[in-house]
Formats: sequence, C-alpha cells, structure tokens
Amino acid sequence: MCRIHLILIVFALCLPQMVRADPADLTLHADPALIESGLMKFLLPRFSLKTGIKLHLGPDAPDITLSGTAGPGARPAFKGPARLYYIMLGADPPDKASRFARWLLEDTGQRTIEQFRREGQQIYFAAADDAPQVAETPLEGNAAIGERLSYANCGRCHVVGHENRMKGIGSTPSFALMRGFPDWQNRFQGFYTLNPHPSFSQITGVTAPFDEALPPAIIPIELTQDELDDIVAFVAGIKPADLGAPLQTQ
Ligand code: HEC
Repeated sequence: MCRIHLILIVFALCLPQMVRADPADLTLHADPALIESGLMKFLLPRFSLKTGIKLHLGPDAPDITLSGTAGPGARPAFKGPARLYYIMLGADPPDKASRFARWLLEDTGQRTIEQFRREGQQIYFAAADDAPQVAETPLEGNAAIGERLSYANCGRCHVVGHENRMKGIGSTPSFALMRGFPDWQNRFQGFYTLNPHPSFSQITGVTAPFDEALPPAIIPIELTQDELDDIVAFVAGIKPADLGAPLQTQ
C-alpha cells in the first residue's frame, strides 16, 4: 500500500474523534509555538491518561489558556525558549480545568514538561528552574541612577519596587516578576521594541524621533542608551519574584 493511502486511512479513522467534542471535555488554547514544537501533543495525552479528562485544542472560549502573554490570573507555568509561559483559566473554571492547572504546576506536570524533547533537545523547563537560558552580558550601567530613572519613567505602569508598590497598573507585570524571566536582560535592553512601549518610547540616536504630527497619546519616555544601561544595571540587582510559588488551590 502506498504511503498516501495509509495516511488517508489513518486520517479517516481519526476523523470521528476529531469532530466529536464530548461536552465533559475541556477546551484549551495554546500559543502556536507550543503546538508547533510538539509540546501539546506530548503533554495532553499524558494528562488524559492519568485522569481520563480529554482536552481539545480550540481557538476560543477556552477553559484553559497556555500563553507567553500573561492575562488576568496568569500563573507562571513553565519556561520556554526566551519566554516564560503562563496558565490562565477562564472565568468560573470547571473543576476539571483547575485539576489540569494543579497537575501542570505540581511535580508531575513540571516533570513532564522537562521530559519533552525536540530533536533530542530539551527546550522547556520547569517554572522554578533557574538555569539561565540566555547568556547575560556584563553590565556597565550605574544601578543607583537606574533606580531613579526606573521609578520616574516606568513606575507609572510597573511596580518597580517598594516605593511604588501600590502605584503600578494592576495588569502590568512588576519589575520583580520580569526579573524572573530567563531572558530578562534582553527584554529590558530592548523594552522600547516590545509592546506596548514603541508608541511612546524613544532612545536618543537609536529610535526614530516621534512623528510631530502624531504625538504619542501617553506621556513619552525619552532615554539615552546610557540611561537604559543604568536601568538594566538596577534591574540586575532586583530579587526575582518567586516563580515557583506553590499554587493556591481555590
Ligand atoms: C504606559 C505604561 C508603561 C510604561 C510607562 C512602561 N511600561 Fe513596560 N510594560 C507595560 C505593559 C502593559 C507591559 C506588558 C505587556 C504584555 O504583557 O504584553 C509591559 C511590559 C514590559 C516588559 C516585558 C516586555 C515583554 O514583552 O517581555 C519590559 C521589559 C518592560 N515593560 C520594561 C519597561 C521599562 C524599562 C520601562 C521604563 C523605562 C517601562 N517598561 C515603562 C507598560 C508600560
């Protein structure tokens, strides 16, 4: 039998399972990178085997979201290439969704994440794993100046430290949380290229000046490269938020 026939037969056999969504099952939305890497194919059947709960990958109204972008209620779930991934549950999550979250965040799930290999390489790590995945380059900035600059420029949105711990915008990650990202240094050094900052941030001689006709809607940030180095030096000294904090079960 030629290969095309085999594929068609396998596909036909799988089709009924693919279209039948058991109402008792959960829907899960994952970032495309997590699906493409094969992690979802590895992870989900292992959870189902243990619990009998089936998870379907779906685009919307998910019970569970796994994403590199933190939304409301996000908990750090694991580290991937240059990113921390979070788990978020829908509003009023069914018990089974909470069960998945517990499984993923506790020993068995974290170990399963660590077991996954792509082309023989481990690319996902437990959330608490502090092996840096991105080499940190030596810092030249002045941390004391950086602290002042951080409160002045970033503190209206981010909790920078004790002095403004009640002042940041709730959904915006704190400096301590971001300091826990394996690639924190790259992210801070390039913050002005990462959303939402480009529209209101300017680094002298690096970014194009703001369009005069199109003033930024929010008070702009204007820093020199040296000042940004100072901020990075300050962030280097921040104690990372404990990403491996045990899950508070509801
Ligand atoms: C007007 C509000 C605002 C200001 C001011 C601001 N940020 Fe942010 N920043 C955000 C928000 C919101 C996010 C989260 C974006 C997301 O989750 O996708 C963020 C995310 C970040 C990230 C992580 C980005 C990523 O994609 O990994 C870094 C690093 C960062 N900010 C650094 C800074 C620094 C440094 C300053 C000051 C020089 C600053 N921010 C000022 C709103 C702000």
